[in-house]
Amino acid sequence: MKYIVANFKMYKTVQEAEEYAKEFKKLVKKCPNKVAVCPSFVCISPMAKIFKGLVQVGAQNCSDKEEGAFTGEVSAQMLKSAGASVTILGHSERRRDFKETDKLICEKIKTAQKNGLETIVCLADDGGEGYKQNIRAQVKDLFTGVDKSKEIVIAFEPVWAIGTGKTMNTGDIKPVVETIKNEARKVLKYEPKVLYGGSVNSGNSGEILALDCVDGLLVGGASKNPQEFAKICFAK
Ligand code: PGA
Repeated sequence: MKYIVANFKMYKTVQEAEEYAKEFKKLVKKCPNKVAVCPSFVCISPMAKIFKGLVQVGAQNCSDKEEGAFTGEVSAQMLKSAGASVTILGHSERRRDFKETDKLICEKIKTAQKNGLETIVCLADDGGEGYKQNIRAQVKDLFTGVDKSKEIVIAFEPVWAIGTGKTMNTGDIKPVVETIKNEARKVLKYEPKVLYGGSVNSGNSGEILALDCVDGLLVGGASKNPQEFAKICFAK
């Protein structure tokens, strides 16, 4: 079973997300894979009510703080109470546009774990030269001190592949994902699942998922259309 995750980014109003959920639910009823949809904060509760557990609902970010005077932030507990059971953390857009660091993301992981949220942690690497050293350093900074009894899913999304229509060759994905698993195993003491992301669509998802080392997909643009995302969810 693979894990297929939609990242809606800052798209869809509540009404649009509800329409999506109603249609998507019918399309993935018999899906053999685990499926999650991560809409904006305001769409979590309405989507969770429609999916009723058939599709997992998640957030795209979560505060590192439990609660307090942090205007504009959303806590892990709030997300749980809205119906989210997982959160994406450390997406490259948050690193780039909101200056999130590995240190902050590590704190977010700990807070999410403490509050019973599963975590999908994005690594910032482009799969280019020096990826081994970069991954080793990042994995150490991100995962030192986290709760090792709770499973962390890692997402590998080459920055140049996000939203560009360019995907990494499957031959190039494999060594990077294997490096991530090896390095993460040293820190986490278990082998994490690794998702691939970056311009995944229904045309290339099958080939990427055919790689044994790839445990699933993180899908942005192509997840916005329920029919297209359902096709990706059924890829074996
Ligand atoms: P994309 O986005 O599928 O539109 O490239 C993936 C992501 O940013 O998670």
